[in-house]
Amino acid sequence: MKLNSLIAGLAVVLTLAAPLTAADVLIPDLNSPVTDVVALNALTTGVSEVTTNPPAPVPGFLQTPYLQSLSPTSMAVLWQTREPAYGWVEFGPTPALGAKQDASVHGLRTANVTEHRVVLDGLRPGTNYWYRVAFKPIRKFQAYKVEFGPEQGSAPVAFQTLPGPRQPMTTVIFNDLHNDTMLFQQLRRVADETRFDFSVFNGDCFADPAAAQPVLTTMAAYTKGVQADHRPAFFLRGNHETRGAYARQLPALMAWPGDRPYFAFSAGPVRFVLLDLGEDKPDDHSEYSGLIDFTRFRRKETEWLKHEVASREYRKATWRVLVHHIPLYWGQFAVALTNRPPWQQSWPGLLKQADLAISGHTHVRAFYPARTVGNPYPVVIGGGPKTNTATVMILEADARRLKLRVLDLNGKEVFPAFEKTR
Ligand SMILES: [Fe+2]
Repeated sequence: MKLNSLIAGLAVVLTLAAPLTAADVLIPDLNSPVTDVVALNALTTGVSEVTTNPPAPVPGFLQTPYLQSLSPTSMAVLWQTREPAYGWVEFGPTPALGAKQDASVHGLRTANVTEHRVVLDGLRPGTNYWYRVAFKPIRKFQAYKVEFGPEQGSAPVAFQTLPGPRQPMTTVIFNDLHNDTMLFQQLRRVADETRFDFSVFNGDCFADPAAAQPVLTTMAAYTKGVQADHRPAFFLRGNHETRGAYARQLPALMAWPGDRPYFAFSAGPVRFVLLDLGEDKPDDHSEYSGLIDFTRFRRKETEWLKHEVASREYRKATWRVLVHHIPLYWGQFAVALTNRPPWQQSWPGLLKQADLAISGHTHVRAFYPARTVGNPYPVVIGGGPKTNTATVMILEADARRLKLRVLDLNGKEVFPAFEKTR
């Protein structure tokens, strides 16, 4: 360990973070109060408008279309309808569209549902396409006769697939918004000047989901703010996404590569590995009422991670970036994990080739250069969900440079930019 880098890392943390007590560090309790959701005029077009009026209803749509990418050659289109319906996507290289895709499972076209998810495959990386969604409400579903309502749909809009390996890429990353859509809008404006390819919500953005409607209202604000109708968003679970009565339905609003909450994808020269560390306390903690099983979950995740780091996509990538809500290395917390469970003992070895890890969760923004807290790679932790701690990150990469900027609500960099060149 280099002493000067250790001192530099600790100095950054100590100057920017309120001191943590041992209790804060060992058993983090991040049940911060949730700010009232600001009602957004989220179902109209436009960018970053905040209003206290209720959302203007769009006939037929409960949630207008938003994109989640699965790879540079595939795109998931999601939307929700007020009535059960059969839905599909029309798409093509021009506004004339021309192709049609729907979803089917076990030989049955997906129908009579309100949550719609259609995957477009066989696309070209870094390429513009156009799409619209359409659906027919199902008013009566009998064995031999189905009655449809009138067809409805959205207007054609353009989207671009994730950049290919020789193209540069830029992403914006939010964390720990805790349902605070006003805070999100302020952070989003900080990134207004940035032309980004996709966005990442790195956990605890849908905190303690209790029911569908508040989650959809928050989702509408986020997807509208990052224009997810024409550039994809990735939603990661944090520990607060696993709490609350709606936590088990939340994945229906998301599309994850491989249909797992941990996944990897390539964008430009970067291999992104997005991990899900589950809850921040043991499974048998009294807070969880015996209803969580992250021990088994992480064991499976570890097996998947072994395959991922052995894959050609990971090994040959120019840059490898880890994104996960709960940090694996976090000041004194790393020391407390000397008795790591088997899954966590194997991860440092598996991940040692990473160039950078991006996390949240602690609500204390911090930058740990490599090898300052036992971390083999640099670790950056975003702040939130208070106005004096919130951050938005902008990650840019091309074949020669990986650069991360961490910005506060005023657009000021809270650390010197992280930069690695080759
Ligand atoms: Fe968290």
